[in-house]
Amino acid sequence: MARSCIINANIFTPQGSSARRGEEMSVLKHFENYAILIEDGIISDLVPMADLPKLDSDVEVIDAAGNAVIPGFVDSHTHLVFGGYRPDEFEWRLKGDTYMSIMERGGGIQSTVNATRAASAYDLEHKALWFIDRMAEMGVTTVEAKSGYGLNTESEMKMLDVIDRLANRSGVPVRVVSTFLGAHAVPAEYKGRTDEYVDLMIREMIPAAKGKAKFFDIFTEKNVFEIEESRRLLAAARDAGFKLKLHADEIVQLGGAELAAEMGAVSADHLLHVSDQGVKMMAERGVVATLLPLTAFALREPFAPARKFIDAGAAVALATDLNPGSCFSGSIPLTIALACIYMKMSIEETISALTINGAAALDLADVTGSLEKGKSADIVILNFDTYKALPYYVGMNCVKTAISRGIVVKNNN
Ligand code: NIG
Ligand code: FE
Repeated sequence: MARSCIINANIFTPQGSSARRGEEMSVLKHFENYAILIEDGIISDLVPMADLPKLDSDVEVIDAAGNAVIPGFVDSHTHLVFGGYRPDEFEWRLKGDTYMSIMERGGGIQSTVNATRAASAYDLEHKALWFIDRMAEMGVTTVEAKSGYGLNTESEMKMLDVIDRLANRSGVPVRVVSTFLGAHAVPAEYKGRTDEYVDLMIREMIPAAKGKAKFFDIFTEKNVFEIEESRRLLAAARDAGFKLKLHADEIVQLGGAELAAEMGAVSADHLLHVSDQGVKMMAERGVVATLLPLTAFALREPFAPARKFIDAGAAVALATDLNPGSCFSGSIPLTIALACIYMKMSIEETISALTINGAAALDLADVTGSLEKGKSADIVILNFDTYKALPYYVGMNCVKTAISRGIVVKNNN
């Protein structure tokens, strides 16, 4: 049995095995001067240092004296597998072009689809690993990865197989959760024939993806998949056994949040233009609101109304949305800074959003997202004695050590 122990730990953690909603998000439990005992990747106990028995010689000891200890971060929304890059589009947007006008001209997602179809599975996997490694340095211990740049059966399955290898091969520093996003866009060869692409997805792609991904996600947006098309696809995916996510109300207010609540989705994401009714319905139905401030920032759009969600009693998660188009950033430090400074989330709410609620957005709140007996030993040791340094050290990495499933995966010394 592999055993380790983090000693002299000043722990700050949300608690529970479900999403923290509303006011619960501001509660972090403080365990002062504790030891975290770890056996085979699981937290076997939390004990005050004064009660810690003498440790056997085979126990690896990690001393956290002087450093705050929090749960590993969960990045519950990323597109980290992709071919090519799109720096030209970024520059066009700087000059005034919009995300949707570039997409309508055949760029945007379609441009990455072309590059991803042409790429080998090996290249996609190794490129993704590089991003995962950068994330682990910032304390991410669980990450979600979406397909959605294949947009035909063969290439979508290639992407899901890459994600599956990332999830299962040894040496990958974080837990990887897979999402099928065949409904990311209507591919060029189906332009003007959205219904036929929806039919293809229902007939061929959803059955092929079954068992290869935990979640089904869709870009519910004006001129992409509208509400009726989304409802049809989400129902088919739910019938096939997928849990549901939506890219909802990102560019315009379309009723994506309401649809997420109606369909019993685990999360609805983006939500920059969510209606008050959508906020209310998501809060009532317990749909996690996954907010992606880096995307709003990179697109020069207003931030999602985090306070409205929290004040309505909803659970808010934060994630990066790392992708080659709308948001080429996986920065946890900047996500934290934007959430606290512009979205008016407290530091405690921000931490809950990036840990337990991120886990809940992946239906993993019983596995990770808090430091409690029986949970996975997914732990971050900060370079500061207080978690309050996280937004204060603006955009900078406060992580000293990242521990994933009991193993030290990064030491940023
Ligand atoms: O979450 N909006 C749709 N999907 C992504 C962007 C993907 C891309 O531009 O490549 C998003 O913003
Ligand atoms: Fe996204």
